[in-house]
Amino acid sequence: MSAVNRETAPQLRTTTRERDVTVDVRDAGVPLIQLNSGASIPQIGFGSLGIQPDRQATRSNIEVASAVVRAALRAGYRHIDTAQMYGTEDGIGEAIARCGISRNDLFITTKLGNGNHSPDAVRPSLEQSLAKLHIDHVDLFLMHWPLPTLYDGDFVSTWQAMIDLRLAGLATSIGVSNFQPAHLNRIIEATGVVPAVNQIEMHPRFANDVARSNSMQHGIAPEAWTPLGKGRYLEDPVLVEIASQLNRSVPQVMLRWHIQRGTIVIPKTVHPDRMAENLAIFDFMLSPEAMSAIASLDAGEAGRIGPHPDTFDWVPSADTPNPSH
Ligand SMILES: NC(=O)c1ccc[n+]([C@@H]2O[C@H](COP(=O)([O-])OP(=O)(O)OC[C@H]3O[C@@H](n4cnc5c(N)ncnc54)[C@H](OP(=O)(O)O)[C@@H]3O)[C@@H](O)[C@H]2O)c1
Repeated sequence: MSAVNRETAPQLRTTTRERDVTVDVRDAGVPLIQLNSGASIPQIGFGSLGIQPDRQATRSNIEVASAVVRAALRAGYRHIDTAQMYGTEDGIGEAIARCGISRNDLFITTKLGNGNHSPDAVRPSLEQSLAKLHIDHVDLFLMHWPLPTLYDGDFVSTWQAMIDLRLAGLATSIGVSNFQPAHLNRIIEATGVVPAVNQIEMHPRFANDVARSNSMQHGIAPEAWTPLGKGRYLEDPVLVEIASQLNRSVPQVMLRWHIQRGTIVIPKTVHPDRMAENLAIFDFMLSPEAMSAIASLDAGEAGRIGPHPDTFDWVPSADTPNPSH
């Protein structure tokens, strides 16, 4: 299989504005995806679920998350993905405050917690997130889950409250996560406002093509959570073969597959060498044959790792601080 078309490796460089910052800023050649809101999002971001031992915002967790995110910023990430339910907003806020990178050069996403869907809870929850993040607006605010079995099945009012936040300038773009076609169609029909992004589970074992293509038909940018399949398929023989032909790692091949499908990716790792490895995916290409071979790994619903959006109904509480999956 001829799997590669090598391009010239992008230069790593320090820009004038970034020369004075406290971190070693690199330009990793990350493409920008234009959103339907008019804003642009770096096609690769840094996932922050699980970068600290648990979801509690304890002082020690804040320090751990802050150190991990500062390492990610040093590696070159400028797009950070968090959520009200991850417990990482405080640590990320500390990293943002300490890193010395201009706010305009960062793209910060957070997500509405499952306990905050009541329309009158949406704005206070985002204001709390902004305080934790030490910023006055997020670049992207996502409804984390549709929760069709909770709140009388009314995620439309929740979406309307998010639209108001965008109009108020607290979020530059708004979007959704884990929205199936029926969920998406419903909020668009009811409000006329199309989400900028749909962040859904996608990896080679679960291409999630129905939700992905429905999103794209609406002009919504698809974003992959668990883009590396949580590291479960690193030994897959098809991926290993492609990686060895390209002299690349399996995670790089998986991420490159997403990138060539036009998907935004947010891989998570706590290791600086892996942060750099996952970012070094813009100086090679997968051939059409390699793309097809990876597509053949899709197991449909059997490949889904996380919960199904039609039934997921976890709301964080003192008794259930973590989801069951
Ligand atoms: N919207 C949603 O409902 C939703 C749900 C889940 C996740 N997310 C978001 O998506 C992000 C990514 O998903 P995820 O964290 O579930 O999984 P993931 O990024 O697919 O995989 C992370 C796992 O892969 C390992 N890994 C990362 N890079 C590696 C490399 N180069 N070589 C070997 N192993 C590597 C990590 O281990 P180490 O850390 O030990 O390197 C970790 O165990 C999350 O952090 C979160 O921001 C969103």
